[in-house]
Amino acid sequence: MLQDKVAVIYGAGGAIGGAVARAYASEGAAVFVTGHTRASVDVVAEDIVAAGGSAEAAEVDALDEQAVDGHLQSVVDTAGRVDISFNAVGIPDAPILGVPLVELDVERFSMPIAAYTTSYFLTARSAARHMIPNRSGVILRVTALHARTGIPLVGGYGPAMAAMEALSRDLSAELAPHGIRVIGLRPQAMPETGTIREAFEPRAAASGMTWEQWQERLASRTHSRRLMTLAELADVAVVMASDRASGMTGTTVNLTMGSLDD
Ligand SMILES: NC(=O)c1ccc[n+]([C@@H]2O[C@H](COP(=O)([O-])OP(=O)(O)OC[C@H]3O[C@@H](n4cnc5c(N)ncnc54)[C@H](OP(=O)(O)O)[C@@H]3O)[C@@H](O)[C@H]2O)c1
Repeated sequence: MLQDKVAVIYGAGGAIGGAVARAYASEGAAVFVTGHTRASVDVVAEDIVAAGGSAEAAEVDALDEQAVDGHLQSVVDTAGRVDISFNAVGIPDAPILGVPLVELDVERFSMPIAAYTTSYFLTARSAARHMIPNRSGVILRVTALHARTGIPLVGGYGPAMAAMEALSRDLSAELAPHGIRVIGLRPQAMPETGTIREAFEPRAAASGMTWEQWQERLASRTHSRRLMTLAELADVAVVMASDRASGMTGTTVNLTMGSLDD
């Protein structure tokens, strides 16, 4: 579905970024995987190449304007263009979660809002500058159900997710006339990811639940009574990046399996 497309993934050393990079490569895209630390993106690139795909790894801090712009210019110099930009950057949760809003200091509150929106803005802006002359491209970003529902003890994470969904809409409003689509993906928690387990296993334990009981409670809120897998998220990411989704832009795909109404 992505034959000969050129895709850049930010945060590709993480659970979602890695799964999406592998899925894009298996659908024929040339994948440029980037991340904060080189070692984790090298693993993803090596896996892709070993499976017969095309991947190049680079260390790119997605909060560094010069690093983002310089890397994307090098991708375009090498591959001729960029068709897909996927931002899966995740700011570490430890400094964000667990403190009631009434006890939160302003720096800790603001940090995820600034970091998430800045990273998305920088990577999307850089992509758009290269996509506009081609009148073609897709920009994607992952958010979470915190964008649309109240959840306690998540500090500035909810506002950060909501702001990124707003940014997707605004980017689309400006870029769709140039042939560029902008799509968000809003998955439920995927317990197979380290992010979710590290953030919620201690909270499950604190409330007297086992990790399995906590997953069951979360799954009971979905229509299908189960949680989504990374592979299922990656499949949707493939379709959304492909020309088969040419009718979609300016929206966030609700992947909460019925636990959150639009
Ligand atoms: N996992 C889920 O079930 C789930 C569900 C809904 C939404 N989400 C959201 O989706 C996003 C990704 O989640 P994930 O589970 O894939 O997280 P993850 O496994 O922690 O991956 C995040 C990646 O972002 C990288 N990163 C952090 N700061 C960066 C920076 N400045 N520049 C470049 N890369 C940077 C990290 O690299 P280093 O480790 O090298 O710093 C890491 O590889 C997060 O925003 C998360 O909240 C996740």
